Amino acid sequence: MIANIGKPTIFASPSVIIMSMPKTPQTFSKHFLWGAATSAHQVEGGNHNTWSVWELENARALAARALYQYGDLSSWGYTSKLATNPANYVSGRAVDHYKRYEQDFDLLGDLNMNAFRFSIEWSRIEPQEGAWNVEAIAHYKTYIDTLHKRGIEPVMTLFHFTLPVWFAEKGGFEKRANIKYFLRYVEKVMEELSTNVRYAITINEPNIYSERSYHEGAWPPNTQSNWKTLAVMNNLIRAHNQAAVLIYKLKPRMKVSIAYHTAYIYAGDDAWLSQLSASFMQYVHDDYYLKRVYKNCDFLGINYYRSYRVYGYRIHNPEQHHSDLGWEISPDNIEHALVRLHDKYKLPILITENGIADARDEKRQAWIEATIRAMLAAQSEGVNLIGYLHWSLLDNIELDSGRWPRFGLAQVNYLTMERKLRPSAVWFGKVIKRLRKAEKEES
Ligand code: BGC
Repeated sequence: MIANIGKPTIFASPSVIIMSMPKTPQTFSKHFLWGAATSAHQVEGGNHNTWSVWELENARALAARALYQYGDLSSWGYTSKLATNPANYVSGRAVDHYKRYEQDFDLLGDLNMNAFRFSIEWSRIEPQEGAWNVEAIAHYKTYIDTLHKRGIEPVMTLFHFTLPVWFAEKGGFEKRANIKYFLRYVEKVMEELSTNVRYAITINEPNIYSERSYHEGAWPPNTQSNWKTLAVMNNLIRAHNQAAVLIYKLKPRMKVSIAYHTAYIYAGDDAWLSQLSASFMQYVHDDYYLKRVYKNCDFLGINYYRSYRVYGYRIHNPEQHHSDLGWEISPDNIEHALVRLHDKYKLPILITENGIADARDEKRQAWIEATIRAMLAAQSEGVNLIGYLHWSLLDNIELDSGRWPRFGLAQVNYLTMERKLRPSAVWFGKVIKRLRKAEKEES
């Protein structure tokens, strides 16, 4: 299905793709959300939070280790210059989205999209404990109203990896007693910013946050402790459940979820050990968390980037194509991830992130094409899919990798801040147009 991935090749035209899609159902629902996703810190610029402080302290070390970390990737030839430069790791003005958001919303229009996922930066709204920043609140109000006026459905995330410094100094989500600060912030956002919002994501990727920040120690606060990893994970479960209850109380019509980083983990052979290990890994990766929050979700937000093949008790992925970050490319496996999650949790699913780091734009179109086919196949197996939000609208700050991984539908020139839709994005925009037209005709 993805035989053409990796080749800078000629792809099928949008109409050919639609014609050749599976028969049932023909297309997506009339209300399907077609959009893109971002997070505040990765695009806005000018933030002061746990990450901006950490970047300044770690930029040199990150640049120095890049060769060892990424040096044997095939992308190294064209990424090394940036990856070895400390400035790459300092978000600074990022892609200046805080000021240029209207221009970026124009891109959504160019892509025929009707939804946009973004996050509210807690450290802007509450820069000091208990002190609300009225200008920041007014900014986000205008931001959301602008989306709404343009007919773009806002999908609002409340916590996407970055925290106010004061909250982190209190121990962040390591301490159960700190959840009350998060709830107070959620309440403020609901009071001030929820008028034109129907979809709220409480927490982005709780599993990745606790793993990378507290187990691997690769992200702030660079802690390596199994005990703290578990504590953070459990507190994020509580934080979601309590935030959801609060939101339902304040805004009964709001649709609430988390954005969960899922993966499809499967056995590479029939051996009992491979089967058992794959199921166990899938449970630890997804279900340990999901089974404790799904009852407080109206839909399941999932971020999908990769799958893992297991032999015995080890992961051994096919040695095929990789993204610029070295991630194995298996967009079609999202079908199995969707079907599994549907069968287990019986909730509508919104794909809150999905995409590929591909600076040369050689693989993105095939990725998206394979994903659309997989979504249709999953629907025909009963999955109630409500939308697809591509990561990302723009090139952005890829966390501890900085600027060099390019996930954007729009390429950003970091010197001039000029945005330009990549060829794959132009193609995707045409596909969305055709699909949305087909949706209307079907209804
Ligand atoms: C995160 C994003 C990140 C993307 C690509 C997701 O895990 O939510 O913040 O940029 O993956 O790595």
